[in-house]
Amino acid sequence: MKTALIILAAGKGTRMQSDLPKVLHQIAGAPLLIHALASGRDITPERTVIVTGHGGEAVTAAAQDHDPDIETVEQSEQLGTGHAAAQAAPLLRDFDGKVAVLFGDTPHIQPETLARVMENDADLTVLGFHADPSTRYGRLIAAGDDLQAIVEWKDASEDQRAVTLCNSGVMAARAEVMFSLLDAVDDDNAAGEFYLTQIAAIARDRGMTAKVVECEEAETLGVNSRADLAAAEAAFQARKRAEMLELGVTLQAPDTVILAYDTVIGRDVTIEPNVVFGPGVTVETGATLRAFSHLEGCHVARGAVVGPYARLRPGAELAEDTKIGNFVEVKNAQIAEGAKVNHLSYVGDATIGARSNIGAGTITCNYDGVMKHHTTVGEGAFIGSNTMLVAPVTVGDEAMTASGSVITSDVPEGALAVARARQETKPGLARKLMARLRAIKASRKD
Ligand code: UD1
Ligand code: CA
Repeated sequence: MKTALIILAAGKGTRMQSDLPKVLHQIAGAPLLIHALASGRDITPERTVIVTGHGGEAVTAAAQDHDPDIETVEQSEQLGTGHAAAQAAPLLRDFDGKVAVLFGDTPHIQPETLARVMENDADLTVLGFHADPSTRYGRLIAAGDDLQAIVEWKDASEDQRAVTLCNSGVMAARAEVMFSLLDAVDDDNAAGEFYLTQIAAIARDRGMTAKVVECEEAETLGVNSRADLAAAEAAFQARKRAEMLELGVTLQAPDTVILAYDTVIGRDVTIEPNVVFGPGVTVETGATLRAFSHLEGCHVARGAVVGPYARLRPGAELAEDTKIGNFVEVKNAQIAEGAKVNHLSYVGDATIGARSNIGAGTITCNYDGVMKHHTTVGEGAFIGSNTMLVAPVTVGDEAMTASGSVITSDVPEGALAVARARQETKPGLARKLMARLRAIKASRKD
């Protein structure tokens, strides 16, 4: 059956104390909204509709930047979750398949959990979980998995508040059923809101089947404050680190490694303490990432060694068996097989040929204040320590530059370029100079 997603994201998120809409706050390098969308991975939705309100333009831009096919609809007044879901009716009422409603501020629902909800064959399926009775979640009034009604905490009796089976907010039904149920929702309750949860009782009144599918409470945790955001980050990191260990990645100090939502790491990769991943990193089998390195938007091939204290920025492409050493920054540069940049260098907007050695302190001077320019180094070249490569410039295969050179014109293959002042040596002059300076100092004391 075809599937569609409705994600509710119109709320203000007052408790975040932020100018940024709540669903755009990030965990693991991606907005909460993108994590909610990721819950739909296993059901491959045909349509995705985000209900926006507060900060709607920014939320729409972020969603469409992630996937241009995502649709958005505005809920101009926040009259409740049922009212929010109903805003998707003009887009999805005639959809021939099942729709799931999710909350944009609930980032941990696992794709297999949403798939279980969608596979359930009741007319209406609700995702529930067991929680401590002191919590203020809506309560699922059910006999076994047979759902009778959902009662919001504010409206619940003492007996109902003692029920530990709670509402996650995730619900699924065929589109025509979902919107016909939503049409019947009213605001006659303690909060004076149009509750999405009312559709359970409406379905039962109409003689339909309603079922509960259960998951762990951890999956349903929402983000309402900065403390929740920090807790959500910690939970995400713990899960992703465990996933990495399971896949055969060595993490010497797992708690110190920060992963991104989309980090991909091959087996037998060793990661030393305090390595940080931004979005868009792929590391292949057998590579080593040494302590305190920072990587984003880059690719590290088999057998490469990075760090300690290296920084790989977007567009860094390390081929097999390359070495990027301490205090080296690489940006938008291809480093071919076996090449080495071992110490204190900046390599940006560059192509470095196979087996070339880039000496300590080499800088590609890529920016003239207005435009960026490219540096090309051929294969088997030797760039002397403290060479400034003033781009655009090309150093040919097996060419060399002398230490301390400022290279402003191309160096042909096999050539040695020396571009520095010639050394002059004056025998005995150092001693003479020092003697004179000491004499001056002594005369001033008198
Ligand atoms: C909701 C459920 C409750 C459940 C809990 C789980 C209802 C009535 N209650 O309560 O049963 O246990 O989630 O966390 O559904 N939103 C809109 N427009 C609105 C109102 C809300 O887009 O007019 C969005 C919010 O941005 C948020 C989500 O819907 O992402 C949930 O709304 P929220 O007000 O947090 O619902 P809860 O009171 O937590
Ligand atoms: Ca909530």
